[in-house]
Amino acid sequence: MPELERLRAGHAPAVLAFELANRAYFAASVSDRGDDYFDRFAERYDALLAEQEAGVCAFHVLVAEDGSVLGRFNLVDIEDGTAELGYRVAQHVTGRGVATATVRELCRLAASRHGLRTLWAATAHANTASQKVLTKAGFTRDGPADPADIGGKPGSWYRLDLVPRQ
Ligand SMILES: CC(C)(COP(=O)(O)OP(=O)(O)OC[C@H]1O[C@@H](n2cnc3c(N)ncnc32)[C@H](O)[C@@H]1OP(=O)(O)O)[C@@H](O)C(=O)NCCC(=O)NCCS
Repeated sequence: MPELERLRAGHAPAVLAFELANRAYFAASVSDRGDDYFDRFAERYDALLAEQEAGVCAFHVLVAEDGSVLGRFNLVDIEDGTAELGYRVAQHVTGRGVATATVRELCRLAASRHGLRTLWAATAHANTASQKVLTKAGFTRDGPADPADIGGKPGSWYRLDLVPRQ
């Protein structure tokens, strides 16, 4: 069974392989990371781990039995009990419920491990799969998103209250 693991230094080669193998696939839906990301991967990866260490972000990878990365599921900009959720899944395992199941798992962890109350996610209107993932995890649409945040395409913010609003 694939396991959702907290990002650590040892995952770096598998994360790079995942990003390279799926670069074109991801770029069809979300902003391409750019050549610089790949050229300076080690430096950027270290910066992510430092951010995680500081408690600003919580990065996770879904790891297959063979050690390959099947998906990335991240909580970023953690502040005042809220965070932004982002995710991407390897093309070869899409359409099998991987994102839906893992987002649900991360939402549970967001409350139990990170003490978060509210999650936000932005997705493009054209990204039907991502909208379905969010809706099935309990998110509801909550206003327009800035296209600059989602690859220049029109889209919406989605919100999930992990604990009932006061
Ligand atoms: C969006 C993404 C995470 C979905 O991952 P996934 O594991 O295929 O998602 P699931 O299998 O849980 O599918 C969720 C729903 O989307 C549907 N779906 C999957 N791929 C689809 C596609 N290309 N077009 C339309 N619907 C699609 C599934 O059928 C499912 O719907 P259902 O519940 O009605 O059957 C994945 O396609 C991806 O990484 N895309 C590129 C990056 C990205 O867009 N990230 C999200 C940014 S907001």
